[in-house]
Amino acid sequence: MTSDPRRTGALLTIDLAAIAANYRYLAERVAPAECAAVVKADAYGLGADIVAAVLAAAGARTFFVAHLQEGLALRRRLPQARIGIFNGFAADCGEDYVAAALLPVLNHPGEIADWVTLCRQHQKVLPAFLHLDTGMNRLGLTPSELIDLAADPAPFKSIDVQAILSHLACADEGSNPMTAAQAATFRNALARLPRRPASLANSAGIFRGRAYHLDMVRPGIALYGGNPTPEAANPMRHTVRLSSHVIQLRHVDSPQTVGYGATHRFRGKAKIATIPVGYADGYLRALSNRGKVWIAGGPARIVGRVSMDLITVDVSHLADDAAAPGTPVDLIGPQLPVDEVARDAGTVGYEILTGLGPRYARRYVGGDGDPC
Ligand SMILES: Cc1ncc(COP(=O)(O)O)c(C=O)c1O
Repeated sequence: MTSDPRRTGALLTIDLAAIAANYRYLAERVAPAECAAVVKADAYGLGADIVAAVLAAAGARTFFVAHLQEGLALRRRLPQARIGIFNGFAADCGEDYVAAALLPVLNHPGEIADWVTLCRQHQKVLPAFLHLDTGMNRLGLTPSELIDLAADPAPFKSIDVQAILSHLACADEGSNPMTAAQAATFRNALARLPRRPASLANSAGIFRGRAYHLDMVRPGIALYGGNPTPEAANPMRHTVRLSSHVIQLRHVDSPQTVGYGATHRFRGKAKIATIPVGYADGYLRALSNRGKVWIAGGPARIVGRVSMDLITVDVSHLADDAAAPGTPVDLIGPQLPVDEVARDAGTVGYEILTGLGPRYARRYVGGDGDPC
């Protein structure tokens, strides 16, 4: 990875001060509940090494990742943090968890039994999280597995269950009744088990009201500037800017076309600006003929297919010198937030962020020693 934007197609600028401000905003909103930080998938593509340290400095004490490998890397960066691994654990990796003091999220009875075995082997009450499924049907104890555990809660004696979690399926859809139904299911489930701290809300869940905060919330996307309330204005600060520049300006006329597959045909005279970013950088091919960029103070449409290293943009409305080679172009930025790029691509901000590739030059600003 280079940080020299002259050697790459685009510069990805990540605003660490905005990430820290987003964390503090959420933490204040949910206090006295704890605000954990979800930093899986390399902190949603923004660089877990740097971002997690910033979040820890902003006050985060508990972090979640998806995989053991991510947890091991995070442990090297944050020796003191509580680190949970959402995807549970494979019994033959148990020693890695113990050695790095990582907490698996126990997602099914087999994992609970294996963690109990590990506790016995180490003669310790090892810490873990417990996950109850309240409707995602992905991970977590099913209702019948919950009944079995409630009937025989012995594992709570062997394991230090630090919190009981569940995960909301539709919290980002303001009026979806499933969110309240999951919360009710979770409350009923908690009442059947030994009392432990409880955690339900992701980013969007935090904005569904105090009843969802319980003892700990687990935001991810909101920390990174995604809108946790898609039905309303985004309360979070943008954290990412992806900027590039024009490398060629081309004048075309009907009946010419542009790009692979000749998917866009010109009806008359037009001007095409070519930008050195493509799907190999993580700029989704789904943005072909649908996305836009920000150039010379306004939007310009992508025409033709996104190719591996290039996109082509219709700048017919601009004077030649306003779109000349070297003209700056934002692909994501203050005028073109991640959620809008995602909407154009028919996806979610999560996919745009986690797809930000290693080919971009990266610059972190707003941290100690800004810019770095
Ligand atoms: C179990 C769990 N909790 C919390 C989160 C964070 O969700 P969000 O990024 O929507 O805040 C995730 C992300 O997928 C998750 O899987």
